[in-house]
Amino acid sequence: MSSNNRLNSISEYHFQKLDILKKKLINDGKKIVDLSIGDPDLEVDKSIIQSLIEGFNVNGYNKYPPYDGIEELKLGIINYYREIYNVKLTLDEVLILIGSKEGINNIIPAVCDIGDYAIVPNPGYPVYSTCCHLWGVNTYNIVLKENNSYLPHLGDIDKKVLDKCRLFAINYPNNPTGATANSDFYKEIVEFCNNHNIIIYNDAAYNEIIKKNEAPLSILQFDPQKKCVEFGTFSKTYNMTGFRIGYVVGNSRVISSLLKVKSNVDSGQFIPIQYAAIAALKLSRDYVNSIRNTYEERKKITKRLLYEHNIEFFDSEGTFYLWCKTPAKFNTEKFCEELLNAGGLVVTPGNAFGDAGADNFRIALTRDKMEIFNAFNKISVY
Ligand SMILES: Cc1ncc(COP(=O)(O)O)c(C=O)c1O
Repeated sequence: MSSNNRLNSISEYHFQKLDILKKKLINDGKKIVDLSIGDPDLEVDKSIIQSLIEGFNVNGYNKYPPYDGIEELKLGIINYYREIYNVKLTLDEVLILIGSKEGINNIIPAVCDIGDYAIVPNPGYPVYSTCCHLWGVNTYNIVLKENNSYLPHLGDIDKKVLDKCRLFAINYPNNPTGATANSDFYKEIVEFCNNHNIIIYNDAAYNEIIKKNEAPLSILQFDPQKKCVEFGTFSKTYNMTGFRIGYVVGNSRVISSLLKVKSNVDSGQFIPIQYAAIAALKLSRDYVNSIRNTYEERKKITKRLLYEHNIEFFDSEGTFYLWCKTPAKFNTEKFCEELLNAGGLVVTPGNAFGDAGADNFRIALTRDKMEIFNAFNKISVY
């Protein structure tokens, strides 16, 4: 069978290929420490599981759920935005998603025509650009550089692209670099996109994975006209990657277009899972601080191990990732192989996030600190 040209223009999802390799290694009896994918190893809180189970008692739990999500969950998200960000939202400004990845894909046809441009970060979560290619939308890669703290430099964007650009994707706290954005940056980018008539979204998957007791930021706090949208997910903060539940909030016209796409291609998420998400939002700030504590501790230990092994890294405060420099005599893929062979460490080559990541690799701190420590003890000093 021949695939369409748009599908041919993208490669297989890196983590899908990696899954096959990991299975093979495990079958061959190799002990691996998987620091590749951002899939938390921490427990799901008991109250979340309890609500999931109780969700089976809800009338019509097995029926097609509402396309836009159940009202109780939308109200939970509205409450979260009011309490944490002091941002007021109405029901038509919230849409429940089957994971934020779903919305990151569906916003493309909701906003862009074939042949339009979307600006995507490089390095960046690969889904922003690959889904554009699948929908026939051109991407303009804005390179995130360490000397600008991995924030995009807006003055670099080609003027001709701006005229044809409909969508701008940003992601702070950032995957893969761990960089965070401050209020000045959000104000600047919101104004820039408003001036150029571009819809901007912040993918806030890691909004709560920051320093302990620090207040997270939402792009909506800096967008008084509410022209942008923000994606959120229960995957990372609540260790619910497999539940597949997320949301998008903000501009009601963008949200209604997204719902038009979504309702034509799929349905709402299973109702008990939506109740599980409601329970997650009810967890106290102590819960959030406890997960921040775990990742902070892992980050601290891993930074020390990297330092001892002579591997440079970006000293970030956001997410549970560390963005590291590949030692000079290796390319990123060869170095990832080296770590696998020497210490059973599975990490992600930087080029999986775009060509601007070719000299880096990413560590996801999603294993216990002792496992990380023991694996590092098996590798050389570079
Ligand atoms: C930046 C970023 N956005 C979105 C997602 C997808 O999250 P979800 O599980 O909600 O689809 C991920 C997952 O790794 C991510 O890293």
